Amino acid sequence: MTMGKDFWEIRSKEPDRVTILDTTLRDGEQSPGVSLTGAEKLEIAQQLARLGVDVIEAGFPASSAGELAAVQRIAETVGRGQGHAQRGGRLEPPGIAGLSRANRHDIDKTWEGVRAAKCPRIHIVLPTSDIHLKYKLEKTRAQVLQIARDMVSYARSLCDDVEFSAEDSTRTDRDYLFEVLDAVVDAGARTLNIPDTVGYAMPAEYGDLIRVLCERYAARGDVVISGHCHDDLGVATANTLAAIANGARQVEVTINGIGERAGNACLLETVMALHTRKPFYGLETGIDRHEIGPTSRLVSTLTGMALQANKAITGANAFAHESGIHQDGILKNRSTYEIMEASELGLDQTGLVLGKHSGRNAFRAKLRELGFAMEDGELNRAFVRFKDMADSQKSVSEAEIRAICEMMESEREGAPL
Ligand code: KIV
Ligand code: ZN
Repeated sequence: MTMGKDFWEIRSKEPDRVTILDTTLRDGEQSPGVSLTGAEKLEIAQQLARLGVDVIEAGFPASSAGELAAVQRIAETVGRGQGHAQRGGRLEPPGIAGLSRANRHDIDKTWEGVRAAKCPRIHIVLPTSDIHLKYKLEKTRAQVLQIARDMVSYARSLCDDVEFSAEDSTRTDRDYLFEVLDAVVDAGARTLNIPDTVGYAMPAEYGDLIRVLCERYAARGDVVISGHCHDDLGVATANTLAAIANGARQVEVTINGIGERAGNACLLETVMALHTRKPFYGLETGIDRHEIGPTSRLVSTLTGMALQANKAITGANAFAHESGIHQDGILKNRSTYEIMEASELGLDQTGLVLGKHSGRNAFRAKLRELGFAMEDGELNRAFVRFKDMADSQKSVSEAEIRAICEMMESEREGAPL
């Protein structure tokens, strides 16, 4: 008997809470060019536990001996609550999931990988779209239906907590998708994951599919519908939020949105949308927002995937303001142009970036910050010099502003009385 039941007992008492399954260490590691060592995976898993994710998908144990060992290490440490403080009210420690294709060999390896965790989960994936059945599996719908049923039953003989993913759900014939999902629910799957594997669905369409599925299994009370979205058309986070708005109570996301091809839905964007628009969604997560910045930085450093400057939430420009109109607003009250607080997210308050669009108020504020005091006339002259410089280059650094001020000071000192 495993401990997976604890997870479900706690979750079923929290209908307004969205379970966050982080798949940075599995789908995220499938980003082209990314490969993490066992030690790096462990370090990220420890940070994910501090962040407060509910389930860590630690890897794909059947893929290599090293991957199996890494998942085992995470299960027996992070999955048993080692290395991070207990936090009041939180489900502790996170569940540990491993991905498995629908065959006994993969399921056995996955179970070997996750079984030491307090809340282990076997996550079985099997394609259901005709395209995948024909070209990838070379099997009929009837054969795939039988495999799904048998393999979920087998996994349930090992582990209480079994998730089933109907790969390429959004390009699967709906009636056949329902048939497969009904069969795996009867076989004991508790989480039904609906992957938009190739990032094909649009938010209204994906939300509708999730709504229909939530209605279909609502009466059972023990089935969770999960969203899993890829970003091929740039709408992975929008689709994930549409899934939540339509009843999904688990979402599968990655730190910084890394993952196969264009990546997965971003955990940080999803969680901050739920938090910032709480009156709209009315839902909670267990995420500790102060750990958002540190987690984003750690994953970027260890995977070598730099964040684009304009990335929402944790990009270098996410809290930076360049135009004079915006800077003036920010100086008067940050809420004029900011909807989140950088400091609450463990991020530096970037503030004002001085360039050719910047105004006098921002320039004055920057001078104060750098320790220079000027009366109005002198400030105006310094501002003209700054604007000349800004017109001829992309931005003006603090060192260059300091140089302008020092030049003005020496002119002041050298001026005849
Ligand atoms: O995108 C996908 O279909 C997946 C499954 C393995 C869940 O990542
Ligand atoms: Zn995926």
